[in-house]
Amino acid sequence: MSTILVTGGAGYIGTHTLISLLGAGYHPVVIDNFQNSKPEALSRVRQITGREVPVYAADVRDERTLARIFHEHPIDAVIHFAGLKAVGESVRMPVSYYDNNLISTLRLIQAMDQHGCRRLVFSSSATVYGDPARLPLTEDAPLSATNPYGRSKLIIEDMLRDLAIAARLGGDAAGTAWQIALLRYFNPVGAHPSGMIGEDPNGIPNNLFPYIQQVAVGRLKELQIFGADYPTTDGTGVRDYIHVMDLAEGHVEAVRFLLGGRGAAAPGGSFAEAINLGTGSGVSVLQAVRAFEAASGKQIPFRMAPRRPGDVAACFADAGKAARLLGWTARRKLADMCEDAWRWQSLNPLGFAQG
Ligand code: NAD
Ligand code: UFG
Repeated sequence: MSTILVTGGAGYIGTHTLISLLGAGYHPVVIDNFQNSKPEALSRVRQITGREVPVYAADVRDERTLARIFHEHPIDAVIHFAGLKAVGESVRMPVSYYDNNLISTLRLIQAMDQHGCRRLVFSSSATVYGDPARLPLTEDAPLSATNPYGRSKLIIEDMLRDLAIAARLGGDAAGTAWQIALLRYFNPVGAHPSGMIGEDPNGIPNNLFPYIQQVAVGRLKELQIFGADYPTTDGTGVRDYIHVMDLAEGHVEAVRFLLGGRGAAAPGGSFAEAINLGTGSGVSVLQAVRAFEAASGKQIPFRMAPRRPGDVAACFADAGKAARLLGWTARRKLADMCEDAWRWQSLNPLGFAQG
């Protein structure tokens, strides 16, 4: 079975994807510098799966470690999760975001090219759609960025599309076709059903679900709902929440697609396309709160607050392309997302910190 390098494999989506990859018979290898994760998360993956995964505690920008990994393992494809992802922080620290997100991707594709491994799954984001003019969002919708994090994703998408174009033109990368899936995630939430791994943000969470979870467990007092005057069903913001295990399975299908050479039918044998990973359903903040209360049996105190700058009213996917190309659709419901998130948070009120 194929060997898959997973950058950022100790993170939230990475750990869940390791479980799906192992379940599908792949051999993952992890590189993570633990900048936003803990080694304990990987121990939990080991406990859940009973399998050892080789781990390189290093930065993806470190060319020597990348060379060592490609030398020591027959890497067939790469899933590139590593990067910084907090929108607000990216506005305050743009240089760190461009340095980490862009340079890690450049070093990675250079190492891949040198070692003849040209199959890549990249973590993009629905944030590249900016403020949607039309819903649901199809992959050909206009792209824009309103912050350095989003811009780093847009630049990387363009860079990766350029790789495929060069191979088609027989230029820089003549004879070396790339197979690249640019997966645009909507809002990943929930946790593995074991309750042993889940999202463990540093400090006070920025995102809705981790915040609700910490209110439910008593770490935070009340939720602020950012905006009750949006043009949506109940005035609160609408998003496409997707269970992280569905997302993980989407990565397995993307790897299967690329390794199966199914992108090679594209012109010049090179493939670099964006694919939405979402459920296709929009859920409001109030609906999410009510669903979490029902799943947890806990009341979530909240108060209405002004809109958060930079937020859009509504954002949800047209997930048809993933179904057509990858044969993948999200299976889990909002209730599953809430139940699994609650199991993780209630069993681990302090996240991975309590060991
Ligand atoms: P995460 O922070 O939990 O995981 C990222 C992992 O990468 C962490 O373990 C971190 O330590 C590691 N890392 C960061 N920079 C590194 C570097 N230079 N070298 C080695 N390791 C490094 O984030 P996540 O939620 O799992 O997200 C994974 C990817 O998906 C990111 O690229 C993110 O931008 C993207 N994404 C996430 C969301 C979301 O809401 N979680 C939405 C859309 C896209
Ligand atoms: N919200 C609140 N209170 C909070 C946190 C969030 O009301 O304490 C609301 C927001 O206003 C929004 C909704 O909950 O209406 C979802 O907010 P999140 O912060 O959970 O998610 P976003 O859609 O703003 O952004 C997330 C990631 C981005 C990513 C985007 C699309 O943070 O990095 O999804 O994938 F780009």
